[in-house]
Amino acid sequence: MEKILITGCNGLLGQKCIQTFVSQKDDVLGCDLHDRAVLKEKSFRYVNLDLVDRTRVKEIVNKFKPMYIINTAAFTNVDACEIEREKCWKTNVEAVEHLIYAAKKVDAAIIQISTDYVFNGESGPYRESDTPNPLGYYGKSKLAAENLLIESGIKHAILRTMILYGCGVNIRLNFTTWIIKKLKNKENISVVTDQIGNPTLANDLAYMIRQVINKNKFDLYHASGKEIIDRYAFALKIADQFKLDKSLIHPIKSSELNQTAPRPLNSGFIIDKLETDLSTETLTIKESLTLFKKDYKKLKPAL
Ligand SMILES: NC(=O)c1ccc[n+]([C@@H]2O[C@H](COP(=O)([O-])OP(=O)(O)OC[C@H]3O[C@@H](n4cnc5c(N)ncnc54)[C@H](OP(=O)(O)O)[C@@H]3O)[C@@H](O)[C@H]2O)c1
Repeated sequence: MEKILITGCNGLLGQKCIQTFVSQKDDVLGCDLHDRAVLKEKSFRYVNLDLVDRTRVKEIVNKFKPMYIINTAAFTNVDACEIEREKCWKTNVEAVEHLIYAAKKVDAAIIQISTDYVFNGESGPYRESDTPNPLGYYGKSKLAAENLLIESGIKHAILRTMILYGCGVNIRLNFTTWIIKKLKNKENISVVTDQIGNPTLANDLAYMIRQVINKNKFDLYHASGKEIIDRYAFALKIADQFKLDKSLIHPIKSSELNQTAPRPLNSGFIIDKLETDLSTETLTIKESLTLFKKDYKKLKPAL
């Protein structure tokens, strides 16, 4: 039984991590900004914790004395990060500095979740050995956090992921749930054909995180679903899986969208290292959408 602190446990990945580690009978403490945990499982404890508050981070970590800290918390709205730069830096960089400081005192290892936005998307798919060059402020902040960990000297793993999707309790819309919501409401939607990457089911990523600990493989990994696809083609597959009307989905180019933050277009990950080191096969799109649909039916999210 391991002692695991999971930050951002009310978010999508945080919820999947709680469920994954609780099912392994670990001693789990979840934390997030809010007064209560959204998951009702009784087998984990919860504490509200703003990671920007250095003193409280130290206090909580020192009291619980985790062996592992899984940091899923982040300011994840990439367009808002471009505008609210101070909040982005405090949440995505300074918070990690606070976790490192606290982890050192109790000899805890950190697993940090990062992103393909550390790359510029000119020459994907990317390996771990490729040089990052973020386009936007979110990517810059996530890369700065990676570098803090690398320079910290503490035991750590960095898992870069992308197009994270899944079903959770009271979570914000992700690509998949957005598509379903719009199509169920019979709304026409435009989806880009020129942003490519590996969609990643949050349940699968939580399993990969668990494998990092179980196999004691602390390293930098590209951690995503197996297949690379453009967003438009992925939207069509989601519609197929949920038997929704595909004719409502229209192709568009990123240049027509005017998104605030620049996107790495030709992204994607090569995941050989992760699959070899963790002795795991990540999911195909078909497999992950099938699992996602099961979760969706169980949770019946109010979209
Ligand atoms: N979503 C993607 O497509 C994607 C792609 C690549 C990488 N990632 C990375 O994957 C990780 C998990 O993403 P996710 O989609 O599960 O995120 P999420 O659903 O937005 O969850 C993040 C959680 O962290 C909380 N949080 C924000 N600021 C905090 C603070 N100062 N102290 C403590 N908690 C705080 C959030 O609370 P509020 O909701 O109240 O702000 C939220 O509950 C993140 O590190 C993200 O950068 C995500």
